[in-house]
Amino acid sequence: MPATVLVGTQWGDEGKGRFTDLLAKEMDLVVRYQGGHNAGHTIVVEGQSFALQLVPSGVLYPHTVPVIGNGVVVDPAVLLDECAMLERRGVDTSRLVVSGNAHLIMPYHYELDLMTERFLGHNKLGTTKRGIGPAYSDKAARVGLRVQDLLDGKIFRQKLDVVLREKNALLSRVYNRLPLDGDEIAERYLEELAPRIAPMIGDTVGLIHAALGRGERIMLEGAQATYLDVDHGTYPFVTSSNPVAGGACVGSGIGPRDIDRVIGVVKAYVTRVGSGPFPTEVDRETADRLVDRGREYGTNTGRRRRPGWLDLVMLRHAVRLNSLSDIAVTKLDVLSEFERLKVCVAYEGPDGERYEHMPYHQSILHRVRPVYEEVAGWGEDLASVTRVDQLPKAARAYVELIAEQAGVPVSFVGVGPGREQYVTFAA
Ligand code: IMP
Repeated sequence: MPATVLVGTQWGDEGKGRFTDLLAKEMDLVVRYQGGHNAGHTIVVEGQSFALQLVPSGVLYPHTVPVIGNGVVVDPAVLLDECAMLERRGVDTSRLVVSGNAHLIMPYHYELDLMTERFLGHNKLGTTKRGIGPAYSDKAARVGLRVQDLLDGKIFRQKLDVVLREKNALLSRVYNRLPLDGDEIAERYLEELAPRIAPMIGDTVGLIHAALGRGERIMLEGAQATYLDVDHGTYPFVTSSNPVAGGACVGSGIGPRDIDRVIGVVKAYVTRVGSGPFPTEVDRETADRLVDRGREYGTNTGRRRRPGWLDLVMLRHAVRLNSLSDIAVTKLDVLSEFERLKVCVAYEGPDGERYEHMPYHQSILHRVRPVYEEVAGWGEDLASVTRVDQLPKAARAYVELIAEQAGVPVSFVGVGPGREQYVTFAA
């Protein structure tokens, strides 16, 4: 059976985790294909909240094999801690398989993430400081260490020594930091971490293709989102990987013909963390209401997210970039307290021109003004809604507007944080 991709359509934090979780119930394999522990998924199961960073959401179902694909960057210590946390809470992590081709996040990646941000000053990107960018840079520069290198101490050490020479020169001479000790790093990674990670390492491409061959169901779970994509996002205020659906092929090792469904997750409003352009960003008072009601603080870093109204220009473009087949709307309940809602239907450029799609030139994007349509709110709590016909008329109209403007159907709508708080729309 062909695979399903689940991808965020905004700047991340759309609430992908809850739908990954919902769909994982029907999946045999759930594969992460990019990013690292810069991601954070919160899943609420029977009142218990699970915050996952690296382990795919499917881990919570005993029948699902969670896979960390080759496109992910892995800090083995973080992975082991996350597995230990899950085990302590009664979740079996023994089925987890990590690609040997995934790249390792090394101690110097954290240092360099911090230092480059510091040197950028007020132009900083606002990264999660998890070493993500430097790890992907090393991968592209072909000096990265991979998960499989943990299985061969000699190779690991050789590669580390070569790369550390350059990193230490950079750290000490450019950034005025203390050089890192190769023996210490090798001891930590090879003696402390490698023996515990080794049983998880496997041939994930082989595993995925064997599952496809058996007609099993596979979900490719995106982290971050379309506008944080290094190619298609609001560069340079992006992450260093490809969250778009095309990245799912590269980061897991399957071709496009093995995918037949791409679900785009659309939060009912928009948020972003860190720096970068944001046409529909709202004033402080509206922001406070959205942040309070939507609990818009990073799962991972605790940072307050910047909120804004729903942006249909971004959504139309995300439909194209990901060839979305359908949409899952999240956090509709957060809008319940607003009497009137604004929805951005187009941008007005600096010279008065109208944009229905994202302007390709970033300088224009920085200067556009959103063209809003005002729609009625519903003023009712949605917490107990379980069927489409129970949605207030205005809430249903809001969802229909999203589907109409995107040109693809809405399949699910989230009405609360709990695992069961969603409604299904017939395709
Ligand atoms: P990095 O991925 O840590 O390099 O951060 C680059 C940009 O992506 C920053 O603006 C981060 O705030 C943003 N970012 C990275 N991961 C996430 C995420 O999971 N949700 C939202 N924003 C993220």
